[in-house]
Amino acid sequence: MAILVTGGAGYIGSHTVVELLNTGKEVVIIDDFSNSKQEVLNAIREITKKDFKFYEINYLNREALEKVFEENKIEAVMNFAGFKAVGESIKKPIEYYTNNVSGALVLLDTMRKYGVKTFVFSSSATVYGDPEKIPITEECKTGETTNPYGTSKLFIEQILKDLYVSDNSWNICILRYFNPVGAHESGLIGEEPQGIPNNLMPYVVRVAAGTLKELSVFGNDYNTPDGTGVRDYIHVVDLAKGHIKALEKLEREQKGLYIYNLGTGNGYSVLDMVKAFEKTTGKSVAYKITERRQGDIATCYADPTKAKQELGWEAKLGIEEMCRDSWNYIERHK
Ligand code: UD1
Repeated sequence: MAILVTGGAGYIGSHTVVELLNTGKEVVIIDDFSNSKQEVLNAIREITKKDFKFYEINYLNREALEKVFEENKIEAVMNFAGFKAVGESIKKPIEYYTNNVSGALVLLDTMRKYGVKTFVFSSSATVYGDPEKIPITEECKTGETTNPYGTSKLFIEQILKDLYVSDNSWNICILRYFNPVGAHESGLIGEEPQGIPNNLMPYVVRVAAGTLKELSVFGNDYNTPDGTGVRDYIHVVDLAKGHIKALEKLEREQKGLYIYNLGTGNGYSVLDMVKAFEKTTGKSVAYKITERRQGDIATCYADPTKAKQELGWEAKLGIEEMCRDSWNYIERHK
């Protein structure tokens, strides 16, 4: 029996595949390389010394997807396929809703057809909008997302809830990620944003590497200790391990719908991140303070208690490992 991983060549997908293979799982990956590279597959093999089956398809292609279910004994699906650039989603809402929401629907419908009802979904803390309280618990209200990317996550969460109401033999885990950073310690896989990065850490590493001139710090007049935005950065390997724990939970329970925050519970400001990066790597990061970025909130960090209690998972890697591994990856891939 295998775990089907959609988007398994992507940033979080590839790190999760490594953890799945390390725990002895059989893995089938589908990916269309729309935001990832073929080399990642060999890097996964190199890290784990294990193999997996791979199909180069888009999950909207129902026929091709059915073939994957025909040819393999799939026990569970982890869905990492999805567009994730916030700014781009505002410019291309139809593409984002089609890929993320319609893609998830085709996937779920195909799973139903083949009697596979165990599903782990990559959601995001973005579903909390401007959070009603900090730290954010899973009970906080969701909604009022500020872009189609975030709204697509919200819609899929709702679809999963409705699906579970219609048939409670489904076994679903929704994971709300906070801010994933870092890379596998081997430096063989990591984050590879296309074009100029939007997220903080990929930008910081490129300034340190000299490929970008300086970081714009988006606002220093927020109601936070140093005025810059505070987030819950989580090492991608910790995040990947959270998926293994989620899968184990679903294997124990056999049915249900579960929602967990995957964060560290620590909030770091933009300037904290810059300083930590400089201290860990010895590289300097030029920055200037600019206007706030539209749609940004002051503070966002998780209360990760529920995941600790119910999954036996907690983030282990700190800000130094996050900076070290992000830098290590870039040094190897400059
Ligand atoms: C963003 C997305 C969120 C998505 C997440 C993925 C928005 C509004 N939200 O979260 O939906 O799930 O990425 O990781 O885009 N910053 C700078 N300069 C930069 C880049 C960022 O100062 O060049 C600041 C931001 O203002 C923010 C912090 O760094 O305070 C983190 O930003 P970012 O990495 O883009 O993540 P989020 O905005 O938290």
